Amino acid sequence: MDKFRRTALALGASLLAAGALMAPMSAAHAQATAPTNAKLKVGLMLPYTGTFASLGNAIENGFRLYVTEQGGKLSGREVEFVKVDDESDPSKATDNVNKLVKRDNVDVLVGTVHSGVAMAMAKVAKETNTLLIVPNAGADAVTGAMCAPNIFRSSFSNWQPGYAMGEVLAKKGVKRVATITWKYAAGDEAVRGFKEAFEKGGGTVVKELNLPFPNVEFQALLTDIAATKPDAVFTFFAGGGAVKFVKDYAAAGLKKSIPLYGSGFLTDGTLDAQGDAAEGLFTTLHYADSLSVPKDKSFRLNYAKTFKLQPDVYAVQGYDAAQILAIGLKATNGDVSKKAEFAAAVEAAKIDSPRGAFTLSKAHNPVQDIYLRQVEAKENKMVGIATKALNDPARGCKM
Ligand code: BEZ
Repeated sequence: MDKFRRTALALGASLLAAGALMAPMSAAHAQATAPTNAKLKVGLMLPYTGTFASLGNAIENGFRLYVTEQGGKLSGREVEFVKVDDESDPSKATDNVNKLVKRDNVDVLVGTVHSGVAMAMAKVAKETNTLLIVPNAGADAVTGAMCAPNIFRSSFSNWQPGYAMGEVLAKKGVKRVATITWKYAAGDEAVRGFKEAFEKGGGTVVKELNLPFPNVEFQALLTDIAATKPDAVFTFFAGGGAVKFVKDYAAAGLKKSIPLYGSGFLTDGTLDAQGDAAEGLFTTLHYADSLSVPKDKSFRLNYAKTFKLQPDVYAVQGYDAAQILAIGLKATNGDVSKKAEFAAAVEAAKIDSPRGAFTLSKAHNPVQDIYLRQVEAKENKMVGIATKALNDPARGCKM
């Protein structure tokens, strides 16, 4: 074989080898880039029935509003929703979240309201490395012992509003408080946060009452409160349960003799149904009506125009969950598989929320002002800031 043929054969062989190498490379490249052009599948796992149904609807509305304001696309990807009604039922939660992850192949999970259901979601999200944004449930563990680089929260930890109210009542000189709530993570942790600050400030929790979620037979417990005669009552209830509790408390004649205080869920999204029974109540929360935040003004206007409804804290949290997703997607060019870049962008961001701008902690929970609010003419009027830039202690988070 002459030198020219040998060189030509060698060249051909190396071109073939290069081609062989190129082929899998472009397939791999196609795999990495194709999803960034495809529709973005958002798995909404929320309660659409039961005591928290209105909360789930408000979260979805808020999320959709932000997406609509972006023209229906995030980072160039059209948003498609897959919905599951989780019924606020922890016993169905693992099956429900697995349907979204394994059957529907969603790019991101958004959910939920109930702390027990959210913990099941966080476990699956962690095991499958699926992006999860929690738009309400305050379970301390989600950004505590279960914290993970792919899990974010746009709402609060149960500890936060409870802790803020504990400080408020201790500073006010209240000494003896009874607590009443549902016996599950949200109630337990709200009371624990309250007790931590209240007892640090010199108060005593003299009685802790509870009933199973979502039970609303309050009568025996109200009789117990009347007999205990504390200086005040601290409570966590939300949704339909909060409506019934506030009405029953007033109907039992307790409102005038034993002041009632709560995490702000007690009176958020519930005031029309509670009527006069809620008038004058003080609560602590990371949102209020009539804030002088420019973003809140445009948000409330757009929300009312779109849904013919007034927004509440749940709508704000849904809106901000979409904002967090948009921030992460912008940094990754729409590629949800780039988890580290996604997290770095969200961790560095100041989120322009209707509640006022906030950042996320290292554990991915909002660091935010907690407002003291009072119900006046069917609004949660902002009375002041109970605690500024409150950061959840993120106990047990190793990240
Ligand atoms: C929770 O279960 O974490 C929760 C439910 C409703 C309102 C606030 C918190």
